[in-house]
Amino acid sequence: MSKVTTQPGNDGEEIDYLELDQIIEKEFDGEKENLIMILQAIQRRYNYLPKATLLYASEKLDIPYSKIYEVGTFYSTFSLEPRGRNIVSICLGTACHVRGGERVREQLEKTLEIKDGETTEDKRYTLESVRCIGCCSLGPVIKINEDMHGRIAPDQIDTVLHQYE
Ligand code: FES
Repeated sequence: MSKVTTQPGNDGEEIDYLELDQIIEKEFDGEKENLIMILQAIQRRYNYLPKATLLYASEKLDIPYSKIYEVGTFYSTFSLEPRGRNIVSICLGTACHVRGGERVREQLEKTLEIKDGETTEDKRYTLESVRCIGCCSLGPVIKINEDMHGRIAPDQIDTVLHQYE
C-alpha cells in the first residue's frame, strides 16, 4: 500500500509520496523504461533528486537503487544535491568571457554571498557557471531558470535577481 503522508526523507526534504505515486504510476505507467522521464519529473518538482525519492522509485520500479543512482549521477542535468528555487547560470564561454563574464560572476558571488556551485541558505538561488548557452552575440549572458538576460552588467545584477522569488 502507498504511504499517504508527506514525510521528511533522510536528507530532510519533505517527500509527498502520493504525488510520487502519481508521477511514477499514473504519468509513467510504473514502467522501468520511463526511468529518465520519471527522474526528470521528480527533479522538476524538487529541483533535485532527493535520496528518498530514488529509494522509493527503486522499490516501485523494481530497479536496484545503485542503477538509479548511476543514472542520476551520469546526466549533468540531474542533481543529487539540494538546489535553490531559482537556478542562476552564468556563462563563462569564450564570447561571454571576453565581454566581461568573469566580472558578472564575481558580482553574482558577492551579491548572493555564495560561490559557484553553491546554494543560498534560504534556498532561493543556486549559482552555476556554464560554457556557452547559445546566444553568444548577447554576451555576457546569465540565464535564470528559463529566462535569458543578455548584455548584463555587474551593476544590473541586484535588480535582475530581485525579480525571482
Ligand atoms: S559564450 Fe556565452 S552564450 Fe556563447
